[in-house]
Amino acid sequence: MNKTALITGASSGLGREFAWICAENGYDLVITARNLANLNALKSEIEAKFGVRVFVFDCDLSQNTSVDKICEFVRENSLKIDILINNAGFGDHDEFTKSDLKKQLEMVQVNISSLLNLTHYFANLMIIQGGGKILNIASAASLTAGPKMSVYYASKAFVRNFSLALAEELKDKNISVTAFCPGPVATNFGERANVKNAKIFARSDDASAVAKRAFEAMQKGKTLVYDGKFMWLANLLTRLVPSTFSAKVTGYLNG
Ligand SMILES: NC(=O)c1ccc[n+]([C@@H]2O[C@H](COP(=O)([O-])OP(=O)(O)OC[C@H]3O[C@@H](n4cnc5c(N)ncnc54)[C@H](OP(=O)(O)O)[C@@H]3O)[C@@H](O)[C@H]2O)c1
Repeated sequence: MNKTALITGASSGLGREFAWICAENGYDLVITARNLANLNALKSEIEAKFGVRVFVFDCDLSQNTSVDKICEFVRENSLKIDILINNAGFGDHDEFTKSDLKKQLEMVQVNISSLLNLTHYFANLMIIQGGGKILNIASAASLTAGPKMSVYYASKAFVRNFSLALAEELKDKNISVTAFCPGPVATNFGERANVKNAKIFARSDDASAVAKRAFEAMQKGKTLVYDGKFMWLANLLTRLVPSTFSAKVTGYLNG
């Protein structure tokens, strides 16, 4: 029987690429997102090409009952999750005080709470199963405070630090946790977050190549990966300069 990967946010961008890569590597899939039409189209394409089983579950991760429903769906289909890819997420470009608070809170729910909820459930099952892999998609945004996208940047810092701690806690249980931090990637993210024209998005990486590097890092059990040409430099600089200064520069780049 094939191993199974559960991927959130598989209806577009990096999540869709993860679905292709996992299927190509022989994994059955559970794919989730809100856009059911996209998920069903992906299921048909992948099943036809790779002959793996693709289970579709549409849900809105900003609703706090959604993760329980995903877990129930996995149980009902007697699936064992070997890989969990917490990829779903979104950002929003605005000054915090002028922003729609409901949207910011939904972001916290999708980017943080649902990720925690899924990880708690499946990491415990992986302990019982004797192993597994968890890939959490953080961001280069995790390196600094990000004025005009304050909640998004803070949510990704949470994902990065939480993943590092969890990796340490699970290291003797044959479970790897990878925090993958890409720079700008050409997906729907920029348009949805209204940052497509920001200076920070002047150069975007190809989603398929980024997802491939993330998958490989996860397979190797790497804990923390900054991905992208200049990420090593951003990592170094944000350590060398005061946090208040990197926040100022990031606010400028966020436009
Ligand atoms: N693109 C970048 O520059 C970049 C850089 C660093 C990190 N990231 C991170 O990479 C991850 C993937 O984003 P992407 O770049 O591939 O953007 P994307 O093309 O917009 O994909 C985001 C995915 O998340 C899902 N999603 C969003 N809100 C959701 C909700 N309420 N409930 C369920 N699913 C939801 C979307 O599905 P539905 O809309 O169908 O629900 C979609 O499948 C995110 O965590 C993002 O923060 C992106």
